[in-house]
Amino acid sequence: MDQKVFYIKTFGCQMNVRDSEIMAQSLAVHGYIEGMDIEGADLIILNTCSIRAKAEQKVMSMLGYLRKNKKNKPHLKICVAGCVAQQEGRKIISKMGHVDLIIGTQNIYDIGELLEKVCKEGPQVATGLDDKYDIPNLIPHLSPLTPGSSTNTVPFRKFVTIMQGCNNYCTYCVVPHTRGRERSRNSSDIIDEVEVLVEGGVKEITLLGQNVNSYGKTNSVNPLTEGYSFARLLRQVSETKGLRRLRFTTSNPKDLTDELIHCFEDVKNLCPQFHLPVQAGSDSVLQRMNRKYTVQQYLELVDKLRRCCPEIALTTDIIVGFPGESDQDFEGTMNLLENVQFHGSFSFKYSDRPGTRAITFTEKVDESVKSERLARFQARQDEISLKRNSEYIGQTKTVMVEDSSEKGVKSRTDTNHIVHLPISASLKAGDFLDVTIIHAGQHSLRGKM
Ligand code: 5AD
Ligand code: SF4
Repeated sequence: MDQKVFYIKTFGCQMNVRDSEIMAQSLAVHGYIEGMDIEGADLIILNTCSIRAKAEQKVMSMLGYLRKNKKNKPHLKICVAGCVAQQEGRKIISKMGHVDLIIGTQNIYDIGELLEKVCKEGPQVATGLDDKYDIPNLIPHLSPLTPGSSTNTVPFRKFVTIMQGCNNYCTYCVVPHTRGRERSRNSSDIIDEVEVLVEGGVKEITLLGQNVNSYGKTNSVNPLTEGYSFARLLRQVSETKGLRRLRFTTSNPKDLTDELIHCFEDVKNLCPQFHLPVQAGSDSVLQRMNRKYTVQQYLELVDKLRRCCPEIALTTDIIVGFPGESDQDFEGTMNLLENVQFHGSFSFKYSDRPGTRAITFTEKVDESVKSERLARFQARQDEISLKRNSEYIGQTKTVMVEDSSEKGVKSRTDTNHIVHLPISASLKAGDFLDVTIIHAGQHSLRGKM
């Protein structure tokens, strides 16, 4: 029998990157191989994100575009997975009749069986979301199924899911609706998974969760021992023999403990890098966002982190134009940026998301005001990033090679900065080397060996 070829396009966060790997693995068991493009595929999966309206629009326009592919190749199967699938479910099929399978965030493990059902019975929708759902244990493939394919993330860096879902209900956020209630994985399963990966040659692990700082707090499935915490898990994982670099994402400042901050002082392989989304620099906006911390409390956390680890590179997420954000509130965000001087940030215009509380807030900010605020924030952040990056010029940094080709070598520092190096035939992905930084841009550095 001919082998069927699948192609996955991943949108959104690292959680989705890991989910795409899981689907690829499951499909391999069902006799599929991964292809490099849409044209050669018998099955196309869009692993979607619905965090902002724009992310969802991108998925919908790509789905529209795929209509003609299906016309030209009737046996082609089209699957929508991830957060848009979870949220929109059957509605997608009613709008897009060429879609065969809708698969929610907790159903990705069953993709192989669901496709068999599609072949026998026609279109399927699997979007069950169970509060007590136990995250299955599936050790990631060590070697890519297809070199260069979309699920072939750098084989020396892997993501390990430690928890899923979110209980925080920030008023703008769709995640509790698309990923369900917070659930933590058993710590011994996590440690076993890391050990297998590191024994297989993985050098860098990122522990993943929507809010890693509340790891183990609300766990109905695998009750953890008294006093266990994310910091304890991090320390345990860090002791894995051969693990060079350890990172984690994402954190909510309201749950950031001193115990975790102190890990940056003495956990040697924990990278000096922290993504700590603040969202806004005004207390009244933070309150309406249901973030449960004040600007002052955030600044104190930044202070503590920098005292424990002076070289730590801090990044954040910012939303501009949240309902009711006044000029003065926005100035608060600009002041916060001046105060903290983030190494980098991801900033977005607020967009209404279905099912959230903020969609009902009436004082919406004009699109043009949002655009102005975003442009002003980003321009200032670019200046600060350039200044921060220039501080590395002349310094020697240890980097891990991520990609080596005829175009050049791409590598990364422990502070999560990309460093471009001249072409070198002797360097390959996963190599560590010391380089001198010779040039800084806003988004990357250049080094010499
Ligand atoms: N509108 C704009 N940005 C949002 N984010 C989350 N929800 C929204 C929304 N409705 C941003 C936050 C979050 C990041 C992943 O996306 O900044 O931290
Ligand atoms: Fe997007 Fe959030 Fe879903 Fe990740 S969890 S794919 S960021 S909506």
